[in-house]
Amino acid sequence: MRRDSDSGPARICVTNAKGGTGKTTIAINVAGALNERGRDVLFVDLDPQGNATEGLGLLEAYDAEPPTFFDVLTDPRRREDVDDIIVEHEEMDVVPSNIDLLQAEHELTIADLIARTKDRSDLTVDPEMLASFAINVRPDGVTGPHSLGVLDEALAGVEDDYDYVIVDSPPFYGKLTDTGIYATQNILIPALTESTSERAIELLIDQMSALEQQTDISVRTLGVVANRVEKTNEDETMIEWFNEVFDGYPVWEVRKRVALQRAFSAGQSLFGYEKDVDMCEVFLDIADELDAQFGFTEVKA
Ligand SMILES: Nc1ncnc2c1ncn2[C@@H]1O[C@H](COP(=O)(O)OP(=O)(O)OP(=O)(O)O)[C@@H](O)[C@H]1O
Ligand SMILES: [Mg+2]
Repeated sequence: MRRDSDSGPARICVTNAKGGTGKTTIAINVAGALNERGRDVLFVDLDPQGNATEGLGLLEAYDAEPPTFFDVLTDPRRREDVDDIIVEHEEMDVVPSNIDLLQAEHELTIADLIARTKDRSDLTVDPEMLASFAINVRPDGVTGPHSLGVLDEALAGVEDDYDYVIVDSPPFYGKLTDTGIYATQNILIPALTESTSERAIELLIDQMSALEQQTDISVRTLGVVANRVEKTNEDETMIEWFNEVFDGYPVWEVRKRVALQRAFSAGQSLFGYEKDVDMCEVFLDIADELDAQFGFTEVKA
């Protein structure tokens, strides 16, 4: 089975810089639904908090000694070692987060400064001096006008093995989140049905435009997942607002369900934990829509 067009897996970043909107929950369960549909999924936990790594029962990997995902992202000599850090989960393969990722934002910022100042003859910035503040970043390893290509480069090494790459992003705008969006160029947005989501979505739209201007990418929105929906008036109002702002894009509704928390504690998606929960239908709908948007035609056995 292959897609109609394009090569390599479909890449998706589940993102919203507002904390606690359900990025990790939605990412894990969309990955579980895609697996249920027979797709091979690589799950990437780009959040230094490591919630998805924990929610997939892989805490040991979070505490693993170097080399880890941090080294893959910050040291070009380690980029191709990404295969060595992939761990297997019953439903998907996982690039686990690691406690060292807490340092990645700092490291990628230094790499970015080196990239931006390298060819500036009007500045007297010594790249070696900047690199002296970093652990892995070296001036000769920084190429191009920015440092956002690191995840894209790492994924190139594993590309042909998977149908989908699902990236769970951190709850802040910064280099890590930008590398996730740069590598995938497709975003799925979980948002709570409360008024605070309006500002979060507006900022996200602004941020995507800024990233598109800074780099050569164009970011595609795949849809919005209204999460923890309880059917109050506020929920209804916000779902209407999502539909207005994202006119023409799918807006799914995931209800508040303890089964999602229980599945997380059990280290699985709903599909590995309790398949008859009603929300499985919603996640399968999302999987089908993603298959359609990415041109996967044949249903795998
Ligand atoms: N639909 C839901 N029903 C019930 N609980 C949910 C639902 N979605 C998320 N939760 C719970 O809400 C909390 C936050 O969810 P989650 O960790 O997925 O959000 P997040 O956006 O990844 O957070 P962060 O911004 O910290 O990365 C978790 O305890 C999770 O179990
Ligand atoms: Mg999270």
